[in-house]
Amino acid sequence: MSAMQSEKQSEKKVFIKTYGCQMNVYDSVRMTDVLAPLGYSATESVDDADLVILNTCHIREKAAEKVYSELGRIRMQKEKRAKSGKPMMIGVAGCVAQAEGEEMIARAPYIDMVFGPQSYHLLPEMVTKSVRAQGGVVELDFPQEQKFDFLPEQTHAHGISAFISVQEGCDKFCTFCVVPYTRGAEYSRSVDAIVKEVKQQLAHGAVEVTLLGQNVNAYHGVGLDGKEWSLGRLIRHLAELDGLKRIRYTTSHPRDMDEELISAHGEVDILMPYLHLPIQAGSDKVLKAMNRKHTAAEYIRIIERLRTVRPDMAFSGDFIVGFPGESDQDFEATLRVVETVNYAQAYSFKYSPRPGTPASTSTHQVDEAVKSDRLAQLQALLNQQQLAFNRAKVGQVMPVLFERDGRYEGQLIGKSPYMQSVYINQSTHLMNQLVLVMITQAFDNSLQGELVDAMNAQTPQTIQPARSAHV
Ligand code: SAH
Ligand code: SF4
Ligand code: F3S
Repeated sequence: MSAMQSEKQSEKKVFIKTYGCQMNVYDSVRMTDVLAPLGYSATESVDDADLVILNTCHIREKAAEKVYSELGRIRMQKEKRAKSGKPMMIGVAGCVAQAEGEEMIARAPYIDMVFGPQSYHLLPEMVTKSVRAQGGVVELDFPQEQKFDFLPEQTHAHGISAFISVQEGCDKFCTFCVVPYTRGAEYSRSVDAIVKEVKQQLAHGAVEVTLLGQNVNAYHGVGLDGKEWSLGRLIRHLAELDGLKRIRYTTSHPRDMDEELISAHGEVDILMPYLHLPIQAGSDKVLKAMNRKHTAAEYIRIIERLRTVRPDMAFSGDFIVGFPGESDQDFEATLRVVETVNYAQAYSFKYSPRPGTPASTSTHQVDEAVKSDRLAQLQALLNQQQLAFNRAKVGQVMPVLFERDGRYEGQLIGKSPYMQSVYINQSTHLMNQLVLVMITQAFDNSLQGELVDAMNAQTPQTIQPARSAHV
């Protein structure tokens, strides 16, 4: 029996709690893959865990504090387990780990490992080192080697809708943002590696993939012809794969929204008509101070071009209110952009000064009460637009991909092409299927629908997900 096999039989459990963006969700799944050869399988319960990993986010304030209070709770469980002779290792991963580094162990000495988003492929070595050293392993370098080259094949099915990281890191340095510091420089995976991963997920039953990156549309990986491919080209290629029914991508930056990607929205049927395109603020003065390197008019032009090639295109965005120096007039400009674009959905935040970022040291910080007031105004407008967008879908028939149970018996929840949550009450046998649904009611954050067949007494028009694909 090989050493690997005998270790595998020791059957250990890992509990991973994920904060922040979808890239962290993807990384957490990949950590489980990396740990599988050591005999670890995932558990939902901290009490059962031999290893607990917090995969953290540092994007806004209080993130680190939340992590420390969670760590305090886990420490008690660690002590409880120790009393019954069972050790528990604690690892902190992700962007707080990268930003706070060794300080974390100084403040919470019961942490066994601190490692950043670029080093989790080294987890097996870290675990071994930590067992030997009895704690205190720190891995925060941005290694020269790319973690993607060292990650094992995806052993986990991500379900019907899979996340695939295609690009990572950021070179844009918006003056409010920690990501370039915590994730490092921009990197794009090769088309070949991405295609392999997508095929593996299709073989596991996925029918939808979401291509992920902090700046996903800055993607410029090596293509199958050895030349650099853009995201638009990658999407056109993936669209040919057997069994793939939906493609999405997130998050995009306006500066990288090129013609090839825009035209793909008009030509690739399975590319969903929904785009998350953050603008952050509507005033050109603020956009400049944020180092976004585009104007509000340029942003609106992109939206118009997309609507020209795909008239039903729906948009979502991110907004920051109260960036240093933002005047009432500047804020009004944000409201005007929102009125012009008419969003289907959006995320909005009060500016949060992040240590180490240029904007945090500005002497023109905006009053907290003003920030709160602006956020309330902006959210009222965005919520109104979201409800109107949802209501406009009543009476339409659209394909919905059902992916989870609802709150009530027999209820299923899925996603519309426009990322709306749609629920039906009739049937559980449609889980993991793409089904035509007639929208009957609209709410703030969801739609209710009925199966087209239930309304017409016809056979359900289901589109079966691929159970197998060429790998
Ligand atoms: N790469 C994406 C966004 C990544 S961070 C982009 O370029 O748009 C996700 C969102 O968090 C940002 O779009 C921004 O709206 C918000 N955010 C980032 N830093 C912030 C800060 N310091 N304060 C408040 N919101 C912030
Ligand atoms: Fe942050 Fe700007 Fe990079 Fe987005 S583009 S991750 S907001 S620095
Ligand atoms: Fe948060 Fe890091 Fe993602 S700071 S948003 S987890 S890139």
